[in-house]
Parts: sequence; C-alpha cells; structure tokens
Amino acid sequence: MNTLTRLTNPTSNHIPVMLNEAIEGLNVQRGGRYVDCTLGGGGHAASILEESSPGGQLLGIDADPAAISAARERLREYRRDLILVNDNFKKVERICTAYGFRPVHGILFDLGMSSLQLEDSSRGFSFQRDAPLDMRFSPDQKLTAADVVNTFSERELADLIFQYGEEPRSRVIARHIVRKRPVVSTLQLAKIIERAVGERGRIHPATRTFQALRIAVNEELDNLKLALEQSVNLLGFGGRLVVISFHSLEDRVVKVFMQQQARGCICPPDIPECVCGRAPTLRVITRKPVTPGEAEVEANPRSRSAKMRVAERV
Ligand SMILES: C[S@@+](CC[C@H](N)C(=O)[O-])C[C@H]1O[C@@H](n2cnc3c(N)ncnc32)[C@H](O)[C@@H]1O
Repeated sequence: MNTLTRLTNPTSNHIPVMLNEAIEGLNVQRGGRYVDCTLGGGGHAASILEESSPGGQLLGIDADPAAISAARERLREYRRDLILVNDNFKKVERICTAYGFRPVHGILFDLGMSSLQLEDSSRGFSFQRDAPLDMRFSPDQKLTAADVVNTFSERELADLIFQYGEEPRSRVIARHIVRKRPVVSTLQLAKIIERAVGERGRIHPATRTFQALRIAVNEELDNLKLALEQSVNLLGFGGRLVVISFHSLEDRVVKVFMQQQARGCICPPDIPECVCGRAPTLRVITRKPVTPGEAEVEANPRSRSAKMRVAERV
C-alpha cells in the first residue's frame, strides 16, 4: 500500500503519523510478532499486520475502550492474527506473558492522544470544544483534569503546569485558575488562561496548560518509563523498539532510556571500574530522532511535532 492510500483510509479519522518510517523502523517481517502499545484507531496496526502477513501476529493495547472498539472494526479482516487488550501499557510485560506472546519482533509506541479522542467532545482533551474537564484515556482512572484544577494548591498547579507544560507563565495561570474555581469545562479553563496570559502567539495560550493536565491525569511519563523497561525483556534478539513522541518531555525520556540501555553500565562516572556488571541491551539505530517530511506535515499538521526513535535488542 502506498503512503497516500494509507493516509486516506476512510474507516478512521486518525491519520497514523510517520507510518512508513515506523514500519521500516520496526523492520516488519513476514510471519513476525508485534506489539502495538498504543493501538488508537489501529492505523499503524493495520500496516504492521499487512506487511507481516501471512503469518504475522499483533497484540494491540489501548487504555481507551473506544479505541479498542474502533480498532476491532478497522482490523476485522486480520481478527485471526490479532489480540486486543483494553489496559494500560504500563503492564505490557504481564499482558504479553498472559497471552504467551513473547518474545516479539517489534514493539511500537505512538504516544499521546488520537484524533478520535481529541475530536470527541465528551472527553475534554480539546480547548476548542466545550466539554467537562476529563482528559482520562481510560474511564477506570480516578483522577480527572477537573480534580487537578479544583483541588491542587496554587503552588502545586503552577509547578505542574511548568513541569509538564514547560509553560513560562505557569504562576500567573495558576493564580487565575485558583481565583475562578470551580472550573468545570474546557472552554471556561481556556478563557481563564487567555485572560491570564493576554496575548495570542503562534500557539493558543492554553496549549501548554492542557498538555500539562493531560500528562498529569494519565501519568504519561511514569507509565512510559515503566513500559520501556519492560519492552526490553519482551524483545527477542534483533527485535526493534520504535517510539514516536510528540513533545520534548517524552522524547527526553525515550532518548535517555535508549542511551542508558545501549551503554549498559550504570556506575557513576567517577568510579574507575564498573561494579554494576550490566551489559548493553539495546543498540540505538537512530542517533538523531527521525521527523516527518514536509509533505506529511502539510497533509497532517498533527504530525508536525513528531519525533521517532528506534533501537534494536542486542
Ligand atoms: C496517538 S494514539 C495512537 C494512534 C494509532 N497509532 C493509530 O495509528 O491509530 C495514542 C493512543 O494511545 C493510547 N494510550 C496512551 N497512553 C496509554 C497507556 N499508558 N496505556 C494504554 N494506552 C495508552 C491512547 O488512548 C490513544 O488511543
């Protein structure tokens, strides 16, 4: 299938990002066994199954039951080669073990939220649609964005917006939010931030705060670290780990993880001789992250901040 056919698949309005690069990064082989930790609408999964057939198998995980339903529909022609699991990828090793699905040839993470989630006006991910402040990937999670916004202290809120949103105006934003509590909807929050920050630059003033809330609600960075550690144990030798991230915090986690695993030794630099005895588990394939080409960014603006890193099990 060529890129254009893949991009215009009519069964899903989520366009998979860096699809060809991900398939190449995974080095998808006929008859291979793959894990898609972020199934979403099943766009990457469909290509993995197509490229690995006949005989390929895929285990797809998503925390969001709506994503699992969408992917089940999209991937129905591959149902015999498919295992779908509605769970958090922080349990990927346990999940694969439970299904006897290890070792595997490749593991994919395409992080963040899908267009299906962003455009669903009941989910609260977008500051352009009015919705309750939810932002949970899974309805089983307890904490919502409304809980964070309405119960955290001004200081905690400011720190969170600064740390996860890399928002330089976090203190002002937090002060305005606390003054206007309770804040119950996305548009209400977006307006408070607009008033707090004033100007409109290249990006909407609420972008960074919304990102921060989503990361906090879904514990995105912690879950990613847990899943990356486990992925190494699941990959067979020569198996590929491919991670597509959408902001610098995620990319840093992936980069540091891959570098550490490639180095092996975790002794402090001032120790003259290695005492940890750890051997490298990964070889980094992409020294620099791969980014989407101009044509893709034009066709799918959501891809503009994507960065893909690939490593191979050694
Ligand atoms: C960018 S979308 C993936 C899109 C997919 N690659 C496609 O082509 O349709 C990311 C998906 O990962 C899911 N997700 C994010 N964090 C997760 C986690 N910790 N555990 C399981 N699923 C997660 C989200 O619910 C979302 O559906």
